[in-house]
Formats: sequence, structure tokens, C-alpha cells
Amino acid sequence: MATSQSSGSSPVTPTTSAVQIQNLHYSFGSGDLTKQVLFDINLTLPRGQIVIMTGPSGSGKTTLLTLIGALRTVHAGSLQVLGQEVVGLSRRKLVSVRRNIGFIFQAHNLFESLTAAQNVEMAVELKGQFGTKRSQAVEILDKLGLSDRVDYKPGSLSGGQKQRVAIARALVNHPLLILADEPTAALDKKSGRDVVTLMQKLAKEENHTILMVTHDNRILDVADRIINLVDGRLESDENLDTFVSTHDPKSLDRRMFIM
Ligand SMILES: Nc1ncnc2c1ncn2[C@@H]1O[C@H](COP(=O)(O)OP(=O)(O)O)[C@@H](O)[C@H]1O
Ligand SMILES: [Mg+2]
Repeated sequence: MATSQSSGSSPVTPTTSAVQIQNLHYSFGSGDLTKQVLFDINLTLPRGQIVIMTGPSGSGKTTLLTLIGALRTVHAGSLQVLGQEVVGLSRRKLVSVRRNIGFIFQAHNLFESLTAAQNVEMAVELKGQFGTKRSQAVEILDKLGLSDRVDYKPGSLSGGQKQRVAIARALVNHPLLILADEPTAALDKKSGRDVVTLMQKLAKEENHTILMVTHDNRILDVADRIINLVDGRLESDENLDTFVSTHDPKSLDRRMFIM
């Protein structure tokens, strides 16, 4: 169910890493105003892995996410997303890479004038699947515990419900790669936990890869792996056991959890 592709431009084989980054540098601006924000990033995300990225504010997390998401053009190094080299791709080809990626942002970005189902249906329409859009939207909303809210507009939903609609929209096309930028930041503790547990469940069911930026130390346990970005450099790359054993709560680097 998870791997069908409508465009043939980026072949995906089960053995391909979801993301493979080598010697990636990134700068904003040009000339005297050039500001380098990412330095020599090397990172491989195997298929099916749930990876959490932490790091102080301004360390480059969102920039790295938007590069992986083919939302910005990369000039230096190598960045392969679902088997496709993204460096040097034309804008049109970048769009086709994006079709296999689900984005979840801190702010839910729902259309206020559309119902929950209609917001999700818009994503299905991008795939050209008009006939089944309603049933697909209802099915994923149901999985996210919103079966009794499908015809509500965002204004009538709680923060947690809105974020779950945004997640439904990101997941409805079964993207192989999910990029989430602080998806629980606007949620209370329980809603945040629920949202992340659902993402984890759906990802494991369909062997999706998730890269999630979060400062929320209560949800670190959903990760198979935690990476830490500081001043544009990947500082550590640890599995959860190592992370927990080396990060006694009393000695945690507080910078990691500053928004
Ligand atoms: N569009 C932009 N133009 C110029 N500088 C930017 C832009 N976006 C982000 N930056 C700068 O890049 C650095 C990294 O930002 P960002 O990736 O948003 O960090 P984080 O998500 O870790 O807080 C920051 O110094 C920020 O000011
Ligand atoms: Mg950010």
C-alpha cells in the first residue's frame, strides 16, 4: 500500500535509503552577505526509521528539513532523497520529488473555510485521484481518531484535532518520507503525545521514514535515533539507549530544549 508512485521520474527500490546526505553545505545570501548555516552534513536515514532532530534555535534544523524536502535548491555536496539526487535538479523535478514527501509544520496551515475532510482531500487531488478523495480522506481521519469530526471546519476543532488533520493531510498519500518541524509545539502535553504516538504507529505500519524536529523531551522515546544539530553541524548521532544513558536529566544541555 505504501509504495505506489504515480510519476516514474524517481524510482524507489526497497533497499534505497530514504535520505543520504554527503558533505552538504548551505548558505543564505550572496557576496558579502553570505551566511553559511549548514556545514559538512553527512547523514543517512534508512527506510522505516524514526529520527528525532534536536538542537538550539537557529542551529539550522528547519533549513536542513527544507533542503531534504526539496523546498530549496542545494548547490554543494550530495543529497539523495528516496534514491533521487536532488543537487542540481530543476524546479520541475524538485516538485516531483516533493510528491513522495509528507510535510507537517508547527503551525497546522489548514484552510479555515474548508472542512477537515476537504483539507485532506486537497492532498489527494494533487495525485489526481478525484474519485476516491472523500473515502481516502475519511479513512485516514478515522485512523487519527477524527471520524466524528470529518465535516467540521478548523474553527470548531481543538488545537490537537487541527494538528491531527494536518497530519492526516500529510499522510493520506502514503508518503515514503515524512518531515515534521516541531509538530507538537502548539499542543498541550497529552495532545502532543497522542499526535506523535499516532505518527509512530502509522509509520511503523507502512515502513515510512520520519525525520522530526522537536524540543519536546517527553516524546524522545518514539525515536529509533536522535541527532543533534549545533551551529549548523551534526554533533551527535546516537541511538536512544546511548542518548538516555549519556543524558542524565540533571546534566542535560539546556540549549537543546530552547525554542
Ligand atoms: N530565509 C533566510 N534568509 C537568511 N537567513 C536565514 C533564512 N532562514 C533562516 N536563516 C538563518 O539561518 C540560521 C538557521 O535557521 P533555521 O534553519 O531556521 O534554524 P532552526 O530551525 O534550528 O531554529 C539562522 O541563523 C537563521 O537566522
Ligand atoms: Mg526551526
